[in-house]
Amino acid sequence: MYFIELNNGVEIPQVGMGLAATGSWQQDDEYVTEVILKAIAIGYRLFDTASLYGNERALGRAMKESGLPREEFFITSKVWDTEQGGSKTHDAFARSLERLQLEYLDLYLIHWPVPAYTRETWEAMEALYQQKKARALGLSNFRKSDIEQIAAFAEVHPVINQIELHPYFTQQPLVDYCQFHKIAIACWAPLGSGSWSGVPLAEKPLVDPVIAEMADKYSATPAQVILKWNIQQHRIVVPKAEFLEHIRTNFLLSDFNLSNADIQTINSLNCNKRFGGDPDYVHKNNMTLKVPD
Ligand SMILES: NC(=O)c1ccc[n+]([C@@H]2O[C@H](COP(=O)([O-])OP(=O)(O)OC[C@H]3O[C@@H](n4cnc5c(N)ncnc54)[C@H](OP(=O)(O)O)[C@@H]3O)[C@@H](O)[C@H]2O)c1
Repeated sequence: MYFIELNNGVEIPQVGMGLAATGSWQQDDEYVTEVILKAIAIGYRLFDTASLYGNERALGRAMKESGLPREEFFITSKVWDTEQGGSKTHDAFARSLERLQLEYLDLYLIHWPVPAYTRETWEAMEALYQQKKARALGLSNFRKSDIEQIAAFAEVHPVINQIELHPYFTQQPLVDYCQFHKIAIACWAPLGSGSWSGVPLAEKPLVDPVIAEMADKYSATPAQVILKWNIQQHRIVVPKAEFLEHIRTNFLLSDFNLSNADIQTINSLNCNKRFGGDPDYVHKNNMTLKVPD
């Protein structure tokens, strides 16, 4: 397994499983628990969920049913836009812990920037960190300006910015800025997004001929090529998968390394194509999405 040391000394696995829309959107039943148990059996320990995904209970059950000690897992959850603010964030965090049946989270993220609430939300999260209820605090979808805002008052430095990142959307200036400031990059939709986005497979980098050719060259799958491209550039990946072969092969990445030239070739596929929301515009719509109880 590959690990990265975060700026507060906590270690995070570089490969985890994303849980958005596992089964279907906000599905939280035994099916989801079974998918997670399969991933645990294969070796996944990092799971990326959020209050909005509505499947924290299924993840909590899977951890219990696995019989593994709590410390083996690295669990990330996120505070949604409607939950931002001082007391709202405290309440949202408590509800996430309760649904997950956990005493603490490994990583708690602000899901999307809401500048009017960033300070209150972050200060609430800092209190949770000081109480050792979260081992690390981070951001998601934060732009440079949002990070500058937080840097002006934060006492606890964010460890991660989780952003949309795949070969068609590399966000290199933001990645460079974060890495310079010791904020690790976690890539969401690393394979070009899941069913929630409605993006057809034909438009995804998974079927790009350049990636297909490299997959042949390295006797790997296209997904493995994309994931390894991230790992070799010190990024964390949280691909979502339900199909057993996907779950298995996305985790087993140690057999090959891409050459520097091939890494550059994949970098050059960037066409600034977002498949998910844009932090400049998404907040209004986010406020219409409900976190289930
Ligand atoms: N912070 C944020 O705002 C944010 C936003 C979106 C997502 N995320 C996080 O990022 C995670 C991943 O993003 P995502 O779910 O949008 O998409 P993704 O991981 O890029 O892609 C998932 C899709 O790829 C398929 N797939 C998985 N492995 C494959 C393989 N080896 N070969 C071919 N197809 C494969 C999956 O199919 P099967 O399921 O059928 O195997 C699924 O349809 C989410 O689950 C979530 O945890 C965060």
